[in-house]
Amino acid sequence: MTQLINFAHRGASAVCPENTMAAFAKGLELGATGIETDVQMTKDGRLVLIHDESVTRTTGAKGLVQDYTYEELSKLDAGSWFGEDFHGERIPLLEELLELTKSHGTIINIELKNSIIQYPEMEKRVIEAVSHYKMSEQIVISSFNHYSLVECKNIDPEIRTGLLYGEGLYKPWEYAKLAKADALHADHRAVLPEWVTEAKQSGVVYHPWTVNTEERMKALIKAEVAGIITDYPDVLSRLLQTK
Ligand code: G3P
Ligand code: CA
Repeated sequence: MTQLINFAHRGASAVCPENTMAAFAKGLELGATGIETDVQMTKDGRLVLIHDESVTRTTGAKGLVQDYTYEELSKLDAGSWFGEDFHGERIPLLEELLELTKSHGTIINIELKNSIIQYPEMEKRVIEAVSHYKMSEQIVISSFNHYSLVECKNIDPEIRTGLLYGEGLYKPWEYAKLAKADALHADHRAVLPEWVTEAKQSGVVYHPWTVNTEERMKALIKAEVAGIITDYPDVLSRLLQTK
């Protein structure tokens, strides 16, 4: 059986400021075999790793990512909000994460944050960056914007995609097929073991999020999901070693 992917959600975001190089490096140190991250686009078309459309929550500055050039954005402090030890952490470029993880063979789940703001050609730019680093096989692109996932497949039919949703879809694996997605990125509370089995029979795997208790991790490991997205990759790593 293939090893379950242990995705550190926004990096090791329980102990480091989310979506920073410190969080990604810490995720790897704590046993993550995957990293989940969120991508937005600057005014000058650079792909940057930050969860919110606005820079306020994680940098204290004002405004939207799309209104900053990368040079302006790179001067913001994305670490101090979490703790003074992280003062000076920056908002990274997607390329920096790819460079860090390429040689580790880490699976990178790139979430396109393009449901609220429709960034022009974001899909093309992300796929170009990934293919520049020759990392297509290490990537799963996910989004709540399912048109965007289809667009990714139109650009590169081999790129893996994950359909993000909350709950309430009837037979989501059938809908995943319609959207040409390889994986279901579901809120973990909306995942039943029998659905994992049925999805797998249709060739669709589950990567539930955001699983932060041992009890749910154990249940999902038992259900044989293909990956788990967690803020605590160390806890999941320990459970996977003792199973
Ligand atoms: O990709 C799973 C999860 O990250 C989606 O929600 O808000 O944490 O990006 P959010
Ligand atoms: Ca995310």
